[in-house]
Amino acid sequence: MSILSQAAHPVIFDTDPGVDDAMALFYAMAHPAIDLVGITTTFGNVTVQQAVVNALYLTQLCGRSAIPVTQGAAQSIGKVDDEPAAFIHGADGLGNLPMRVPTTRVADPRRSAQFIVDMARERPGEITLVPVGPLGNVAQALQIEPRLPQLLKRVVVMGGSVLAPGNVSPVAEANIWKDPHAADAVFTAGFHLDMVGLDVTYSVVFPMSTFTQMAAHHQHPATDVLLHAVKFYANFYATRFADAAQVGGCYGHDVLAFLYLVHPEFFGTAQGRMRVVTEGIANGQTILNRRPDIDYPQTGWGTDMPNTTACMTVNSAACVAEFERTLLSDWL
Ligand code: BDR
Ligand code: CA
Repeated sequence: MSILSQAAHPVIFDTDPGVDDAMALFYAMAHPAIDLVGITTTFGNVTVQQAVVNALYLTQLCGRSAIPVTQGAAQSIGKVDDEPAAFIHGADGLGNLPMRVPTTRVADPRRSAQFIVDMARERPGEITLVPVGPLGNVAQALQIEPRLPQLLKRVVVMGGSVLAPGNVSPVAEANIWKDPHAADAVFTAGFHLDMVGLDVTYSVVFPMSTFTQMAAHHQHPATDVLLHAVKFYANFYATRFADAAQVGGCYGHDVLAFLYLVHPEFFGTAQGRMRVVTEGIANGQTILNRRPDIDYPQTGWGTDMPNTTACMTVNSAACVAEFERTLLSDWL
């Protein structure tokens, strides 16, 4: 295979790092078929100021300082924001690192939304956007450029749930919950859109042994940082989820968006119109119309609504093996 055909996916990674975001970032940097053309940050697991610091830090540590990093949405549209989840990701988003080596990287001056639009206009039909945090940057980019759904190749969102219980309310997943209005704008815009949600992300436990092996193999500050962060994050899951505790590992929610991009054969999907609840007790719920044969008369479910492909099943063992193989390759 030629180098060109290997880098099959030029990607903008829209992220709120965050430990599983960091896991996903390492996988994307390590994978030969993924070409990270930019990292756009948002509030979510941490403030957007911390998110940009973390993205700059991790890319510099990995020797990938040429990847532009931008700062984006600081808060949601029309909802009171929750405090960042320091008990899951650490107050710094990376498991409370005991120290950081000095870094020299600075952010690209553009806002995240503007960067997404600029790149989409520069390379029409080529770029895949992978958002793994609240969807404010994508919603803002749509306001700047309404033709964005035609300019991007596709959007692979980590967020939401069709049948699995929510992780911040009985029905809501955290990324959608944090900015439901933005999410509904994205799901109804007409993107070629895939959703990788809790239906699959809670089925895959990444064992701690992968991260210890990775650190031992690379003997590199970047993999030491990831190992530290994942230990903190896995401790959180061990206290609440029996399967994570049993395996001695953690869920890697955001990693699955990239695994789906490069290995769709690991996943089973369903298609339909997807909407997001933006108020009330079900705020943040993603609802998939699984009966396209019924012509529901209610506003908002008409045939003018675009389809979303939602991941419903996953080959967990294949995901874990592929992730481990990629991180243990000589990419660093
Ligand atoms: C999502 O919420 C965040 O805490 C994670 O980084 C992931 O993007 C999982 O619900
Ligand atoms: Ca995330």
